[in-house]
Amino acid sequence: MNSAKAICVKKTERLQGRIEIQGSKNNVLPIMAATLLSSGVSVINNCPLIEDVFIMCRLLTCLHVKIDRFGHTLVIDTTEAAYEPLPYSLTCRLRASILLLGPMLVRWQKAEIGMPGGCAIGTRPIDIHLEGFMRMNVDVNLDEEILTCQSYYLQGCEYHLRFPSVGATENMILAAVGAKGRTILRGAAREPEIIELCNYLISMGALIEGIGTDVLIIKGTGELTSGDYENVYDRIVAGTYLLMAAAIPCDINLTGIDDTGYMKNIIQVAGTLGVQTEWSGGTLYVKSSGTVRAGNYKTGIYPAFPTDLQPILLTVLLKAEGNSTLTETIFENRFHIVKELEQLNASITVNKQTAYIRGHSRLEGHPVASTDLRQGAALVIAGMLSNGCTLVTNIGYIQRGYEDMVRDLQGVGTDICYI
Ligand code: UD1
Repeated sequence: MNSAKAICVKKTERLQGRIEIQGSKNNVLPIMAATLLSSGVSVINNCPLIEDVFIMCRLLTCLHVKIDRFGHTLVIDTTEAAYEPLPYSLTCRLRASILLLGPMLVRWQKAEIGMPGGCAIGTRPIDIHLEGFMRMNVDVNLDEEILTCQSYYLQGCEYHLRFPSVGATENMILAAVGAKGRTILRGAAREPEIIELCNYLISMGALIEGIGTDVLIIKGTGELTSGDYENVYDRIVAGTYLLMAAAIPCDINLTGIDDTGYMKNIIQVAGTLGVQTEWSGGTLYVKSSGTVRAGNYKTGIYPAFPTDLQPILLTVLLKAEGNSTLTETIFENRFHIVKELEQLNASITVNKQTAYIRGHSRLEGHPVASTDLRQGAALVIAGMLSNGCTLVTNIGYIQRGYEDMVRDLQGVGTDICYI
């Protein structure tokens, strides 16, 4: 991991070149958790080299899982996996640490696991996960930051999620494949990461119907066989660069995008902003004049526009030809970026869950600080739109999800470096 403390980025007049899009973070984390459901060796290709993946590796290692890494390939051997409590000092560094709960209950009928952490973008409770597990006959005890769960008989159930939480859907699926009998999940999340997880589990021998819909029917099948997995590209990283392209005249290629199905919603919003795209043979060709169309936008559950790209869209709209609005519907506290963008001379007013963004902004470089992953990436892009030089600090947040944003942006001609 790069030990730099900050990123210095200068105004970018034009983008030209190629960015290879890394493997997906949100996709690979549940797949890594799923390897615990079998005893054997699983090979995961196209794994992004990011902090969140390294923390998940450390959590699995706590459970005596052996992991070797060869470039972007992880070889995960769960043959000798053995029960251990997972310490809060590690689980608090990753929201997806909670996804180990389902597989641990299947494998050991118990789990003592510190509460999950992750980006501070809202309260991020886990009540939907826990309610689902209780329906599966799991005793749940939460004592400050330690969660203790036990089930002598993990029982399939019918459960209607009160909100289509991505993590809770994943966790329930991971437990249900190893439970006795059938589980029906209604109101399940339909994000691409759920589809990929289900298909991976099926390749391991699981029985799942309704993939891609909000009703999933899972038949418990006992122990699964280990399986290999080719990780898909990161639609949020691709979306970051696609939206960035709206605000800067550009002619760039995003490679490694083997299918645009999972980012149709993002491409559609980029088109509304004024970006032209064409996909062919694994490359998304992206062109724009740098003139951003103003509009009214809203985040939502898939296939609506993803909340993770909200700070990037908000930043790009500062350059729009008029005023815009952006409403956040998933997390209640995801407008941290506004305070930092104001340092750059942006004019944004937030009322409840909607940001009112003044277009035609003349942004001026200034030191700004990341406070979460996507907000940090958006600040780097804000620096590219600002006169002079912008210093982005706390870049550890960015490195949790972007393998190397400086390398990516240098590849399309940005004057940017680590310091
Ligand atoms: C995942 C993604 C994250 C993305 C989010 C929404 C990973 C590792 N992270 O996070 O990048 O922003 O989906 O697309 O895949 N909620 C509850 N109770 C729960 C669970 C969630 O109230 O038990 C609420 C959350 O507070 C939030 C909303 O549901 O307001 C969505 O959360 P969820 O879909 O669970 O997000 P994550 O799985 O944590």
